[in-house]
Amino acid sequence: MGTVGVISGSGFSRLPSSGELYSPSINLTPYGPTSASLRRHRLAGKQILVLARHGPRHTIAPHEINYRANIWALKTAQINVVISLVTVGGIGNRFGPGTIVIPEQILDYTYNREQTFFQNQAAVSHIDFTFPYCEELRGVLIHSAAEASIDVVDTGTYAATQGPRLETGAEVNRLERDGADIVGMTGMPEAALARELGLCYACMALVVNHAAGRGQGVVTGSEIENVCAQGTARLLDILTVAVPKAEQLRFNLPEPIKPGSGRHA
Ligand code: HPA
Repeated sequence: MGTVGVISGSGFSRLPSSGELYSPSINLTPYGPTSASLRRHRLAGKQILVLARHGPRHTIAPHEINYRANIWALKTAQINVVISLVTVGGIGNRFGPGTIVIPEQILDYTYNREQTFFQNQAAVSHIDFTFPYCEELRGVLIHSAAEASIDVVDTGTYAATQGPRLETGAEVNRLERDGADIVGMTGMPEAALARELGLCYACMALVVNHAAGRGQGVVTGSEIENVCAQGTARLLDILTVAVPKAEQLRFNLPEPIKPGSGRHA
């Protein structure tokens, strides 16, 4: 299937700051500029393209990210498979700091973000989003973690909040009642946009703090930084095993639904 794309998030600055620049012209899309230039890296002898979601100097807040440009640029670079790395707060007991989660569901609480490519089209289109992540790629990540002897939680629901502030304790209680296990700010609309362009997209989430009201006291920056440093190493180990497998992936995503076209009842 070709080169794998990696969108790297907060705390993973080791990845995007190095690596060779890839075709800078791709950074300016019909939707505006991407967060950063795509960079070519080598992992286990394989080339990957890495995009720093928050920009090269980590200056772009979750609500300011041009998600459409980022996904468009990856598609333009002929990427079919995208692994998203995110940091999250953990809600339930199984999701303490340091836990790596490969979520399978999403709850979206974001607002005022450009959330679709389907605008001003000749015909209305919808995507099926029953399974918001590419199940084939989730399988690759789960098996690769096992092969690398790294524990992961291979299920879970990711709640995407607007940010940039963290949640209140009461909000986290509500997220839990809604069924969320982890909470972050960048998972949406990224996953939906990837689906709209037919990309096989899945996520590895590193829990860097107890969600608000779940740990001892308030969430601190130093708590988060410590976990990031050791978590990044484990994520890279999983990626190293996963990338060659993901390159070979055959996947089967639902086609967009166009009511009235006669193609989908
Ligand atoms: N909430 C939202 N986003 C986050 C958190 C959190 O607790 N930790 C890391 N990203």
